[in-house]
Amino acid sequence: MPQILELIRDDHDLIRDLFDELESNPETRDVRCITLRRELPGHVYAEEATLYARLGDMVPEEIQRSLDEHTEIRETLARFEMIPLRDDAWMPALVDLRERVEAHFASEEREVFTRAEHHLSPAELFRLGEMFEEEKQKAAQFAAG
Ligand SMILES: [Fe+2]
Ligand SMILES: [Fe+2]
Repeated sequence: MPQILELIRDDHDLIRDLFDELESNPETRDVRCITLRRELPGHVYAEEATLYARLGDMVPEEIQRSLDEHTEIRETLARFEMIPLRDDAWMPALVDLRERVEAHFASEEREVFTRAEHHLSPAELFRLGEMFEEEKQKAAQFAAG
C-alpha cells in the first residue's frame, strides 16, 4: 500500500478534478456535489486522525494552523451546501470554497509533507497510510449511516 503522503496527494488530485468538473460541467453537478460532500469531509477527518495526530507534538504550530484551515473548510462547505444548485449565489460560493480548499492543499503539500518526511520514518509513513485508509472507510460508513 502506498505511504500516507501519496494517498493524501491522490485525494487532493481527485478533489481538484471534482472542482474542475463542478465549475465547467453543469450537467453532472448534482452527482459531483454528492461526491464532494463525501470525499472532502472524509479526507480532512482522516488526516486529523492520523498524520496530524502523529505530528501534533513535533510541530504544534504548523498542525494548529492546518487544523484551523480544516475548520474554515468545514464551515465554508456547510454554507455552500445550503445554497440550491440553480441559485445565483451557487457559483461564487463554489469558487470561494475551491480557493480555500486549494490554498490549504498547496500549503499542506509544501509544509506539512516536508515536516512529515523530516520527522517520520518510511515505515511509519507506510503504517500511517494503512490507518488513513481505515479512517476514511470509517468516515464513509458514518456519513452513509
Ligand atoms: Fe488537510
Ligand atoms: Fe489534505
